[in-house]
Amino acid sequence: MKIALLGYGTVGRGVDEIISARVPSLEVARILELPDRLTDPRMTASFDDILADEQVELVVECMGGIEPAHTYLMAALESGRHVVTSNKAVVAAHFGELARAAAAHGVGLYLEAAVGGGIPWIAGVEKVRRVDEVTSFSGIMNGTTNYIVDAMRRDGADFAEVLAEAQRLGYAERDPSADVDGLDVLNKTIISASVAFGVACEKNLPTSGIRNLRASDLALFAAHGRTVKLLGRGVREAQRYAAAVEPVAVAAGSLEASVPSNFNLVTLDATTVGELKFYGQGAGSLPTGNAIVQDVLDCATGARRPTYDFSRPLAYDPALLRGDYVYRTEALLGDAEPFGEGAVVVRGLTAEAARALLAEALATDPTTFMAALPPTGEGRTAEPTQEG
Ligand SMILES: NC(=O)c1ccc[n+]([C@@H]2O[C@H](COP(=O)([O-])OP(=O)(O)OC[C@H]3O[C@@H](n4cnc5c(N)ncnc54)[C@H](OP(=O)(O)O)[C@@H]3O)[C@@H](O)[C@H]2O)c1
Repeated sequence: MKIALLGYGTVGRGVDEIISARVPSLEVARILELPDRLTDPRMTASFDDILADEQVELVVECMGGIEPAHTYLMAALESGRHVVTSNKAVVAAHFGELARAAAAHGVGLYLEAAVGGGIPWIAGVEKVRRVDEVTSFSGIMNGTTNYIVDAMRRDGADFAEVLAEAQRLGYAERDPSADVDGLDVLNKTIISASVAFGVACEKNLPTSGIRNLRASDLALFAAHGRTVKLLGRGVREAQRYAAAVEPVAVAAGSLEASVPSNFNLVTLDATTVGELKFYGQGAGSLPTGNAIVQDVLDCATGARRPTYDFSRPLAYDPALLRGDYVYRTEALLGDAEPFGEGAVVVRGLTAEAARALLAEALATDPTTFMAALPPTGEGRTAEPTQEG
């Protein structure tokens, strides 16, 4: 199968390298590159050249960003090309529209690489859903923030110091906001909830990150037998679902707590299979390139042709995600119990109410840190409290 690559950066080069070294049945025939970097005979700066090439059956998009990626993906689908993308931003923003275009033109829309890099999470969820209903998912979906929290816990170092080291090692962007404020995990949570629950997921989910996490916060949680991880999570009950992105104080003995460095771990619960965990490299040129090549092979061999039907009448109901929350803040919060030095716990909040209370506390004390405090079961990950 001849394919075209849109974007020749970290992920695009990984795809090209894997195909040329290991997968002779595929050929990267065309590459969309910026006009001042046309260094390879396969390269063009014109997307129209790629659309006009009838030998190209599939388009891999790894440029990133919303536009022009969205326009190019729609044009590729409407021209009858299969699409594979690693671009979580464009999928989270336009999933329904892309899925409808793929269905209308009888082509595949593949997005394994958009969530969890090399981990076969999306295909795993799709496989589970052939038999089961997914009732919840929860995961460490961002390697940068896991690296930061893991290093802070291990070395007792503070956030700014570890962030600078992560930037030096290339694990964190120069502008780390998308990672540390939870926006990257938000996109992955929107996509995961859409695939897991079969619904065009609400975009405005409660979202908070780890920007204000201090080494002393980790020490306080450690004294309570916990550590902090930034999780994207979702729950479904009957015809309702909820999802959120927030730091969660997981049990120190849980698998989540032991996830090292920049690795990811995503968990689902489903009707008959029960709990499944997916662990691996959530980013990087070759792991992410691998997920893309697996999608292309699924398409080329006909092994898998994902279709997404979001017509199900599931309602977004924030009341499904409810629990206790710890705030380390100098702001005065009503109905709070002491949790430790400088910190309080507020019980029975929805994730949405907890996020609103965080905003209130941040207005008084901009260094406030908040983490969910779920009940911890023996040997199991802390789960969100589900309310019927
Ligand atoms: N890196 C990872 O490990 C990873 C993992 C999972 C998913 N992803 C996702 O995969 C996508 C690509 O990530 P990446 O890390 O490979 O980014 P990257 O290294 O910045 O590569 C993207 C490439 O596309 C180029 N580009 C941008 N707009 C273009 C256009 N209109 N025409 C031609 N080329 C264009 C960029 O050029 P300029 O840099 O000059 O703009 C850059 O060379 C993103 O959506 C990202 O979220 C990345």
